[in-house]
Amino acid sequence: MKKILVKGGKKLNGEVNISSAKNAVLPIIAASILCKEICVIEKAPMLEDVFVICDVLKSINSNITIEEDEILINNSNLINGEPDSELVRKMRASFLIMGPMISRFGRFKISLPGGCNIGTRPIDLHLKGFSALGAEINLGHGYVEAFTNKLVGNKIYLDFPSVGATENIMMAAVLAEGETILENAAGEPEIQDLANFLNSMGAKISGAGTDTIKIVGVKELKGIRYKPIPDRIEAGTFMAAAAITRGKIKINRVNEEHLKPIIAKLTEIGISMEKRGDSIIVDGNSEFRPVDIKTMPYPGFPTDMQAQMMSLLCTVPGTSVITETIFENRFMHAGELKRMGGNIKIDGRCAVIEGVDIFTGCEVKATDLRAGAALIIAALAAEGCTKIGDIYHIDRGYVNIEEKLKKLGADIERVDIEE
Ligand code: EPZ
Repeated sequence: MKKILVKGGKKLNGEVNISSAKNAVLPIIAASILCKEICVIEKAPMLEDVFVICDVLKSINSNITIEEDEILINNSNLINGEPDSELVRKMRASFLIMGPMISRFGRFKISLPGGCNIGTRPIDLHLKGFSALGAEINLGHGYVEAFTNKLVGNKIYLDFPSVGATENIMMAAVLAEGETILENAAGEPEIQDLANFLNSMGAKISGAGTDTIKIVGVKELKGIRYKPIPDRIEAGTFMAAAAITRGKIKINRVNEEHLKPIIAKLTEIGISMEKRGDSIIVDGNSEFRPVDIKTMPYPGFPTDMQAQMMSLLCTVPGTSVITETIFENRFMHAGELKRMGGNIKIDGRCAVIEGVDIFTGCEVKATDLRAGAALIIAALAAEGCTKIGDIYHIDRGYVNIEEKLKKLGADIERVDIEE
């Protein structure tokens, strides 16, 4: 059984390079279905979730080769088959192929993605969008099926600015007849990156990154080479790690605009940051103040940084309050942090944190991707050794996190421990 062992107390120092964004690459790989020519994703993050979505495409005859950090995708012989349901249920983002597959084949059947630890993860807004574009939707026996003779542009209002629904509907509309206006759309940087990828292939998308996106249908898309944006959540995770260890690190390959809500909150806590080109220097050697955090759709504070910030705030003297507005069950890391000595009280969507002097190392388990990152952050500042289990969650979203932290001076290693 693989575990990550951390001996806490080391200040992080040095430089780290951020990988490309998982949540940009996944929809971009799905979008390659819309094109019969070869697409190449450069500087792709070698992550478990990326391998899974590639396997989903391979299960319907996509020809994908991965060489170093490049993914070459040839969908010229794609079939309208039912993707492997085990894979779809394993990784929710597989559902992002639904929009492109309906667009390409006019009909498509896929296993319902199901929920996960952080919430029920419904897909009603995705399906509402496909229906508005002219698809007939059938649900039953754990599957969803869509049929249409052709997709026709329409005006669609999302009840909630869902990232996945915005991406899926945008991909379905790119080759539809006429114009689609998507209102109350999500504006995350990853959506802007997907729109840039599609526009580079010949799509006509405007407004991505705002709450209203216009897609004018085109006839076909061309194959391209594309380098996705850097991962703002990985960057934020290393910022929190530097802060909790009171270290000073230089984080390379960041987009400051995408990091604004994270920089604002860390500044409020008292952490100093200095921008240097496409790098940022984070210095945690200062007095910290407690803060309140409320997760919101972009450009609000990202829910994917909530767990990591809980770890940091557990070591800040005073009372901090975190409100999680995006997912209904995204405080599972609190129980593990309390095992390490954190003083956290959960009341529905709110977590009240009383700062403690120090975490104490012990055995903990990752309950989901970002919870795993939060446990590593806590372990870096804990007294003694922490043993983190179920680290497969962490590998879904972080490329060689322990190697990157080791280079920054952390006493961390991945070991194989018999249960
Ligand atoms: C994306 O998930 C990200 N995943 C998540 O990152 C991220 O936490 C989330 O957006 C919010 O920013 C990828 O991009 C692969 P949503 P997604 O649809 O698209 C409700 C990580 O750690 N909703 O914006 O699934 C839903 O219940 C992962 O990297 C509906 O009600 O998120 C949730 O409460 C975790 N109906 C809220 O919207 C729908 O049809 C946000 O979900 C769809 C969503």
